[in-house]
Amino acid sequence: MTEKWNLSAAPESTSHVELQDTYHLFINGEFRKPKSGKYFDTINPATNTVIATVSEAGKQDVDDAMKAAEKAFPAWSKLDGKERGKYIFRIARTIQERSREFAVIESLDGGKPIRESRDVDIPLAAAHFFYCAGWADKLEYAFPNRSPKPLGVAAQIIPWNFPLLMAAWKIAPALACGNTVVLKPAETTPLTALKLAEIIQEAGLPPGVVNIVTGAGETGAAMTAHPIPKKLAFTGSTEVGKFIYKAALDGNKKVTLELGGKAANIIFDDAPIEAAVEGIINGIYFNQGHVCCAGSRLFVQETVYEEVLSKLKRRMDTFIVGDPMDKNTDIGAINSKAQLKTIEEYLKIGREEGAEIYQPKCNLPKTGNWCAPTLFTNVAQSNRIVQEEIFGPVLAIQTFRTIDEVIDKANNTPYGLSAGVWTDKGSKIFQLTQALKAGVIWANTYNKFDATSPFGGYKESGFGREGGIHGMEAYLKFD
Ligand code: NAI
Ligand code: MG
Repeated sequence: MTEKWNLSAAPESTSHVELQDTYHLFINGEFRKPKSGKYFDTINPATNTVIATVSEAGKQDVDDAMKAAEKAFPAWSKLDGKERGKYIFRIARTIQERSREFAVIESLDGGKPIRESRDVDIPLAAAHFFYCAGWADKLEYAFPNRSPKPLGVAAQIIPWNFPLLMAAWKIAPALACGNTVVLKPAETTPLTALKLAEIIQEAGLPPGVVNIVTGAGETGAAMTAHPIPKKLAFTGSTEVGKFIYKAALDGNKKVTLELGGKAANIIFDDAPIEAAVEGIINGIYFNQGHVCCAGSRLFVQETVYEEVLSKLKRRMDTFIVGDPMDKNTDIGAINSKAQLKTIEEYLKIGREEGAEIYQPKCNLPKTGNWCAPTLFTNVAQSNRIVQEEIFGPVLAIQTFRTIDEVIDKANNTPYGLSAGVWTDKGSKIFQLTQALKAGVIWANTYNKFDATSPFGGYKESGFGREGGIHGMEAYLKFD
């Protein structure tokens, strides 16, 4: 086993963060007590202590938010694109200015390492607002000869794995295209969306253009069943995605769904192995594996299998698992008790299916939700741990001999969100990117995101694209 560097703790300070004890709903430009009279707690998953109490929006609250958005729509959609852009630029700049505070809250509320929220989530969220702000007055150039028009009110429901970033993916293009929105963050991670509401208020957006309601599945269902929204946008599980699709059909609404995944990450024997090992790590252990495009099925060409496996295990032995607020931490807390239970269930299933398990020795903290990074070898295509999305730090490794074989194996999944290919040969990359049924394919890298680049899936991973001008198209209609 490799020696772990004996690093002293380097905790990020939380003293600069301002959090309230209780949060209300952001409707029509102001924070309002929920008419439902109901509240719920949001927990720090690293300690399982309460951070704040948050409102649970009932049907009446959702209705108020939808009506506020509907009322704000005519003026907002008619506003000169340049003026709309100014508001969105203001949001982007404020996120940057307050990025440290956002990063800390994101890690407190969701359990991800501060290094990731600081270097990935928050900068990317700002980038999406900047990118879309730039298009607000240039839509007729983005879609030449098509006279783009906004849709109306968009109801947007987001998950808990990238809370602020998903809010940015949803709100930024909708506003740039002249729509108004009602957004619901996930019930375990509502705080950065509520902070964003504060920024939106400070930025002086007209009341009702952005409304943020908190709550769980029932609140979400009230949003999708509501007659006002013309568009539903969802990121989350395939199971809930199916309900949302049905609501969209029933209500004759436009819809985009970004759902689960079980991506193939493919290592050929001519790949730069050290870099590929880092790519495998980043592919599955980034954000505790709570990533829809995670490279959770690894395929290694037989000739380099032993080398890749031993280097991968050696690298895993160096992981620092624990306090999300420590700048040295590689793997933080599992987002919720429920998700930990799901992951543990899959670890049990993997063992029962006869797979061999490897976990590095790590000192997991006594309280909080923790899962050691895990890999499974000796797995079969039909195993549940190979077919089903685990959404945790769990990798299943298979081998292959030929290109045709790996294409068959990689496509043997109900999902089709992403994939990775590692090889020295450009021709092989092109062959694979043509043959793999996945919306995003990375070559010699993994989990790289960019506001200018479209993202989305095939099959049970959903449909529609977010990011780039493709992402804005989903918030427009054309005469
Ligand atoms: P979920 O799909 O239930 O939650 C996502 C969002 O949908 C949350 O805001 C939730 O409040 C909302 N929601 C739940 N039921 C709803 C309904 N009937 N109508 C409208 N909105 C509703 O995801 P959950 O249960 O937290 O996680 C379960 C599994 O889903 C995970 O283990 C993972 O496999 C997958 N997942 C995938 C994500 C992705 O990014 N593709 C994100 C989160 C979860
Ligand atoms: Mg929380």
